Amino acid sequence: MRDMNAPDLTIGVIGAGAMGTGIAQVAATGGITVRMFDTRDGAAAASCESIAKRLAKRAGEGKMPQEEADAASARLQPAATLQDMADCAVVVEAIVEDLDIKQALFADLESIVAEDAILASNTSSLPIGAIAATLDKQDRIAGLHFFNPVPVMKLVEVIRGPQTTDAVMDALVALGKRLGRTPVVVKDAPGFLVNFGGRAYTTEALAILHENVATPAQIDAVMRDGFGFRMGPFELMDLTGMDVNFPVTRFVHESSFGDPRLRSTPLHRYMVETGQLGRKSGQGFFAYGEGAQVPSADTTSDAAPAAAVFVHGDAPELGALATECGANLLDADDGKAPILAAPVGEDSTAYAARNGIDHRRLVCIDMVPDTSRRVTLMTAPGADEGVRASVVSLLATQRAVTAIADSPGFIGQRISAMVANLGCEMAQIGLASPSDIDLAMRLGLNYPKGPLELADALGADVVHTILTQAQALSGDDRYRPSQWLRRRATLGLPAQQM
Ligand code: NAI
Repeated sequence: MRDMNAPDLTIGVIGAGAMGTGIAQVAATGGITVRMFDTRDGAAAASCESIAKRLAKRAGEGKMPQEEADAASARLQPAATLQDMADCAVVVEAIVEDLDIKQALFADLESIVAEDAILASNTSSLPIGAIAATLDKQDRIAGLHFFNPVPVMKLVEVIRGPQTTDAVMDALVALGKRLGRTPVVVKDAPGFLVNFGGRAYTTEALAILHENVATPAQIDAVMRDGFGFRMGPFELMDLTGMDVNFPVTRFVHESSFGDPRLRSTPLHRYMVETGQLGRKSGQGFFAYGEGAQVPSADTTSDAAPAAAVFVHGDAPELGALATECGANLLDADDGKAPILAAPVGEDSTAYAARNGIDHRRLVCIDMVPDTSRRVTLMTAPGADEGVRASVVSLLATQRAVTAIADSPGFIGQRISAMVANLGCEMAQIGLASPSDIDLAMRLGLNYPKGPLELADALGADVVHTILTQAQALSGDDRYRPSQWLRRRATLGLPAQQM
């Protein structure tokens, strides 16, 4: 195995598309000589030129020294044939996502490169083991999965195939660091880490929309304001494009033999079928282009704010919120005033029935998210419209209000619990270490917290309660808690506990 920190290191990049170009750029800026090959005439040279231009622009803007940009550009070498890879220490493949074509390329490379060279694939969905299966020497094949755009996205997943040696894994981790990335070692499983773990955020949002609980704008606003996500799930799907996120979602679901935790909704497919791809087509869950406006997520009312409310159950923070908004807190239900409650995992219907409360005057508020900017409220079927409106007006004096239909776990509890649960499941199946799962999800998807950190911020027991309630009320095993989560919640341990 060659030293990945050697000053004269040379690597090959096959495929001069979006990913190959990005990989070549970070390699060149990492002080590595890069040979680029593409079967498309002139593509490798064009890619090298585009990188040189990009680096020159960065230097012009003062973002990197001119000499560094020049030196990096000088390290880029378009290759005329695959034979030019002969002296490369590592060859990274970033060609078309097709198993047969990738296998054929690696078979050719096997006969060209040196005995100690490493062969790596940037595949986003093909098992590394399947790519390696037809090769003579399978212990030097691994996944090196970058994210788009490579120079911006710091994460790289290093994926171990069935026969990959520790030395190869160590070398690729070292190479990843030299490329300025943060490497995370991941198991060879469908979607690897980020493409698997990224499902719950969008699929649960789609489930909430499917059930007519809330609109895309409402769901996005709750996840931004209540949990600090930079983008709501629908904005995110519109940005990545339905033609990208629907196939990945379907692939991960099918590869997991239809696990309901990973299930999407008919609307997701319909968006693709009708060309509503998101930003790129001008229309997705939201409209884009001139004059397009994001619908409001805020519920308002002209009704007089409730002057007095009764807070049911042990919910001091809810009482404090009602007081801050100007309501008097009643000591007991007076049979007239709104009854406020903060259920965890239950919907208003189940909460009213379990506690023998008048469901018409019950208004449930989600106190699990950060409620300093926005609060979500919901009511049961048959709720008194006047009562609901008076509580909307009350809360709107101090907060943005999002009023939704009855739902076990509102919006925020449902989505955050599903994200946390999938993180726990990734830990349970050993996809990566708990700390690497959190790191990868923060870096790969810009999540404000990793899924296990999120579980601990909410409380592993709270997440477990949300899920078991949602599972019991919906009858849907989509909400079944990961055994990882159940054990830690039962024992009072943090979700990050090994
Ligand atoms: P792309 O379509 O932009 O580029 C692929 C390039 O490979 C093209 O220039 C094509 O001419 C060349 N090519 C095809 N067959 C070849 C062969 N046999 N030998 C040499 N060159 C060949 O594709 P992109 O997006 O760069 O993806 C490349 C790989 O990276 C795929 O495996 C993809 O799944 C994976 N990937 C893509 C990500 C993305 O966001 N685009 C993210 C992470 C991984």
